This record gives sequence, structure tokens and C-alpha cells, in this order.
Amino acid sequence: MKPPIEHLNSVRRQVRIALVIMVLLVGGAGWWLWINHKSPVPSADAVATSPLALPQSDEVVDGIHIQNGLAEGPGYREVLVNCTACHSAQLVTQNRGDRNRWEQIIRWMQETQGLWDLGDNELVILDYLAANYPPEVINRRMNLDQAAIEWFVLSDGSDQEDNQ
Ligand code: HEC
Repeated sequence: MKPPIEHLNSVRRQVRIALVIMVLLVGGAGWWLWINHKSPVPSADAVATSPLALPQSDEVVDGIHIQNGLAEGPGYREVLVNCTACHSAQLVTQNRGDRNRWEQIIRWMQETQGLWDLGDNELVILDYLAANYPPEVINRRMNLDQAAIEWFVLSDGSDQEDNQ
């Protein structure tokens, strides 16, 4: 058994060493995250070589590209290259709209999300989007036939007086 003071000092030394190791670990992790940090909006270079933008498989089943869910048709390649760099193609395929609506979405992304000028491809892309993802057919139940409904007449309470 060491004398108590010496023992205390050795515990202190160990705690100090543990603290230094922790600071180094946390600092190291922070430094690693910092140097590996990537901007959420890819640079044009990164986009051009993005694996998302490069088709890996061209298999088409029922007019849908298996790899990404996009419809096959004129403009497919332009949409694949320009519209799947920042988000998945699903964001495209789950939206519907006429040409105007699609143009608005593109303008909005250009003004707020860093989408580039699409140049001549814009017309091709708009044609593709309007043709393959047009406004949803409204598929809701028929209106109720109001004349056929027996309405329950709400009482204001005045007819209750007869009962008293
Ligand atoms: C520079 C990056 C970038 C590119 C390239 C890009 N988008 Fe987007 N887009 C975004 C961001 C960011 C959002 C918002 C995502 C969210 O809300 O989570 C978005 C959202 C959308 C939405 C959803 C809009 C809504 O109203 O919810 C659609 C549809 C869309 N993009 C279609 C496209 C199409 C079509 C193209 C190709 C012409 C394209 N995007 C290219 C960044 C981009």
C-alpha cells in the first residue's frame, strides 16, 4: 500500500492523462470532420463526375428506368444529368404539374437552390417533365346528391317548450 498522499497524486496524474487523451480524441474527431466536410451543393465539376449522374444500368421495364424510377422518353438523359445531382430522381417523379408549374419549380431552384442555367436543355427537360409528369387526374369521390339526403334538422330549443 502506498502512503495516502502519494496514492492521491498518482490518481490525479491518471485523471490528468485521461483528460488529455479525451481532449485529443474530441479535437481529432472535430478536425477530421472539418477537413472532410463537403458543401451540400456540389460544384459543377463534382456534378459532372457524380456517380448519380452516370447511368449504371439502362434497364427499362414498363417504360420506367429501373435504376432511378424515371420514365423513358425523349429528354430522359438531360433530366438524369441535370436533375439528380442534388436530390434523388424520386423528388422529380413524385411531383406533378403542367409545363408552367415545372418551369416555376426550375426557376425556384435556380433562384434559391443553386440550380444552374439549363441552356438549350431547358426546353427538352420541360417537354419531358410536362409529358411524363402531368397534373394528376383528379380522382376523388362523386359529389353527394344533396337533394337525396334527409337532413337532420337542428332544433333551437323552442319546440321543447311543448314538452313541459
Ligand atoms: C443545384 C441543386 C439542384 C439541382 C441540380 C436540381 N434541384 Fe430540384 N431541388 C433542389 C433542392 C435543394 C430542393 C429542395 C429539397 C427539399 O425540399 O428537401 C429541390 C426540390 C425539387 C422539387 C420539389 C419541389 C417542391 O415543390 O417540393 C422538385 C420537383 C425538383 N427539385 C425537381 C428538379 C428538377 C426537375 C431538376 C432538373 C431540372 C432539379 N430539381 C435539379 C436542388 C436542386
